[in-house]
Amino acid sequence: MSNFQVIDHPLIQHKLSILRREDTGTKVFRELVDEIGMLVTYEVSRNLPLEDVEIQTPVAKTVQKQLTGKKLAIVPILRAGIGMVDGILQLIPAAKVGHIGMYRDEETLQPVEYLVKLPEDIDQRQIFLVDPMLATGGSAILAVNSLKARGAKDIRFISLVAAPEGVKALQEAHPDVDIYSASLDEKLNEHGYIVPGLGDAGDRLFGTK
Ligand code: PRP
Ligand code: URA
Repeated sequence: MSNFQVIDHPLIQHKLSILRREDTGTKVFRELVDEIGMLVTYEVSRNLPLEDVEIQTPVAKTVQKQLTGKKLAIVPILRAGIGMVDGILQLIPAAKVGHIGMYRDEETLQPVEYLVKLPEDIDQRQIFLVDPMLATGGSAILAVNSLKARGAKDIRFISLVAAPEGVKALQEAHPDVDIYSASLDEKLNEHGYIVPGLGDAGDRLFGTK
């Protein structure tokens, strides 16, 4: 079974409380998704491999560390995943960015894929698949299916708010994918919204409702 980890640093918990509030407006919501996405990714990156390199400082030659291993791709699930990309790019500016477009049918709650645009060498890259919300898990599972169908092997899923139902479904469908979230919430309601959650992440991010 895949790993599931809640990244609950105090700064993340504080910012997440503001993000959840219904009186938080679009501008602040957008800034917080960006910041929390960056803070969570800082932890997700903790075990990236390093190699020794010899460098010259103004004072001496020394052996120090630099990142090695597979190159990275950040893949947001549209729309809401877009809000996490800039923050992650601040940490890993050389990463390429792919896009998977998906929306949930409001009645069936089933995800519908409408766009897949990925770096050509996606099968060679370590992938950070990002979406602030992991609710039923349907969108994340379909996105991982899409990535694997194109040869991707090394995928970490990064969310901000997850429901137990979604974590379980994603773990069962893709036990090799490590899952990270800033919070594990209580449950889903009858409309497939996370409780307490933060409402519709896409609409709050882009001001569409
Ligand atoms: C939201 C969210 C996830 C999905 C999660 O997207 O950003 O992609 O729902 O739900 P699930 O785990 O039950 O699949 P939505 O379908 O609202 O599309 P949007 O981001 O374009 O608003
Ligand atoms: N998608 C959202 O944006 N919010 C939820 O609570 C569930 C799915």
